[in-house]
Amino acid sequence: MRSTTKRLVIVGLILAGWQAMAQGKEVSLSEKLTASHCGACHTFKRDEPHGMGPNLHGLLDRPAGSAPGYDYSDSFLQRLGGQPWSRELLDAWLADTQALAPGSAMTYFQDDPGKRELIIQYFESSN
Ligand code: HEC
Repeated sequence: MRSTTKRLVIVGLILAGWQAMAQGKEVSLSEKLTASHCGACHTFKRDEPHGMGPNLHGLLDRPAGSAPGYDYSDSFLQRLGGQPWSRELLDAWLADTQALAPGSAMTYFQDDPGKRELIIQYFESSN
């Protein structure tokens, strides 16, 4: 009886370890994906200079169009300016930027919901 309990505890610990490892992997995969898909135009750390697109530090929950000193397009500001960046809005934006803000200076379409999810997770985990 006692050794069964012990075994169960050990199995539980191994599973918990695996889970932690798997989560670690996911974070680094979402970081890689975000860097490769967005890093050419965006920076992510606090106070880094804007690129072709605005710095995205602290993106989730902040109002769209509010990165200080960045010159957004009129089309972006008219359609999205002031709306808080929720995970749903970000998902729709990444799926089809031109449907949300026709004529926006960011042209990006990601059809794969799995990739969008990983990119959103990056902003949830890092910001
Ligand atoms: C080719 C350059 C380019 C790429 C690649 C790109 N963006 Fe953008 N992004 C822009 C530009 C330019 C704007 C400003 C849009 C405007 O003013 O119309 C922008 C705006 C944004 C905004 C609005 C930010 C705010 O301050 O409200 C978000 C969010 C965003 N991009 C996320 C992403 C993510 C996530 C990726 C990667 C999946 C990505 N972008 C890839 C150029 C790019």
